[in-house]
Amino acid sequence: MPELNLILLGPPGSGKGTQGKILQEDFHLPYYATGDILRAAVKEGTEIGQRAKEYMDRGDLVPDEVIIELIGERVQQEEASDGFILDGFPRTVPQAEALDEEMEDLGRRITAAIFIEVPEEEIIRRLGGRRTCEAAGHIFHVEFDPPKEEGVCDIDGSKLIVREDDKPEVIRHRLAQYREKTEPLIDYYDEREILCRVDGNRPPEEVSERIHAVLATLRMEEEI
Ligand code: AP5
Repeated sequence: MPELNLILLGPPGSGKGTQGKILQEDFHLPYYATGDILRAAVKEGTEIGQRAKEYMDRGDLVPDEVIIELIGERVQQEEASDGFILDGFPRTVPQAEALDEEMEDLGRRITAAIFIEVPEEEIIRRLGGRRTCEAAGHIFHVEFDPPKEEGVCDIDGSKLIVREDDKPEVIRHRLAQYREKTEPLIDYYDEREILCRVDGNRPPEEVSERIHAVLATLRMEEEI
């Protein structure tokens, strides 16, 4: 089986985390979500966490060098030798270039950048209603995917919270950052012919089916 090195690309709230967790279970690949990694670092009070917190709380991107090192270490690990799923990285052109260099050094390449497209009004509805489990980051939505008991995670029973950066004024700033710094990656991966567009404005199961269909097509093409 050829390795599967995937990038999940898309605006905040497009469902990268939701789909990333499904893909991780389906393909048994390590899943590296920079947002989750940084939030864990903030919680643990590590040096990176202390540096990242102020950027994250106001919806700014954390400096490239911090993130590049964080992900570079992970894709080199033995557990990632058959592939990996990246969620939230790269998010700037310098990050994408650094990843390409890292992959070249390892004699590997990115299989696909899956771009989950969702209109802005839907993003605002999704982020405004998102609830995140305090212990492990499990994701719910008050309207689209409510927990069985309000405020309690179905999976591990911990408290559900509103992320600091899901407050309305921060959401607007994150979207502006996305348009300025992350959107150029759509052309970046399109030019390299590895961009796969998926309509993310569908129920999660349908989005997942579409991603699987895209990956099945890629695999068939690789075998020809
Ligand atoms: P991060 O945690 O990566 O935030 P994000 O990219 O803004 O993405 P989100 O987690 O908000 O959304 P998502 O696309 O994962 O959607 P989700 O599945 O949760 O990053 C946070 C911060 O960390 C950044 O702002 C930055 O400061 C820093 N950072 C991270 N990476 C960085 C990098 N590379 N460089 C620099 N800084 C970095 O879904 C959202 C909601 O919608 C949920 O409630 C879910 O239940 C619901 N939902 C999902 N899919 C559907 C659907 N199909 N239909 C209806 N509802 C749905």
